[in-house]
Amino acid sequence: MATPKKLGQNIILVGPMGSGKSTVARIIGKKLGWRVCDLDLLIIEKTGMTIPEIFAEKGEAYFRRLEKELLITVLQGERLVIATGGGAVLDEENRRVMKENGTVVYLRTEIKELCRRLGRGKGRPLLAGGKPEEILTRLAREREAFYREAQITVDTQGLTPEAVAGRVIAAVFQGVAGQKGL
Ligand code: S3P
Repeated sequence: MATPKKLGQNIILVGPMGSGKSTVARIIGKKLGWRVCDLDLLIIEKTGMTIPEIFAEKGEAYFRRLEKELLITVLQGERLVIATGGGAVLDEENRRVMKENGTVVYLRTEIKELCRRLGRGKGRPLLAGGKPEEILTRLAREREAFYREAQITVDTQGLTPEAVAGRVIAAVFQGVAGQKGL
């Protein structure tokens, strides 16, 4: 395999709920033999609570603090594939540490496709109590600029998770897509 752009560093996946970050991270980890860190799962492990329970009982601010603490901790490691939660990019320091410690990859996905994949949004507290399409559209407006700060964007539309993983690896390792919009 060609020399990685940032040898020994990390691949960090960002994007909205349903963009495939967790699934794609697992595939990339397997292909590269890198460890996979799924931030939502780390939060669940650390608290012994589900994400909806954390939001309901402790509040979103508590969740965001944990998310930030764990992100900064895991980013001290190397050769990790990190699946972030969709809102991790909201925090300016999170965005900075991600860029400083790896290659940030935005998995861009159309809202209609996100809705199809998410269904009624089970396990996603931000989608509870509203129409997923409206909520995802509002979140996209609030977050798209932050996702676009990623060094690489991979369009996931119509691609299998395996194909997306392949594109991410190609972009990170061969420098093919330091150019955005693969
Ligand atoms: C969130 C996305 C979720 C999870 C939490 C909040 C968000 O992760 O972190 O429900 O703010 O978009 P996924 O993007 O993995 O669904």
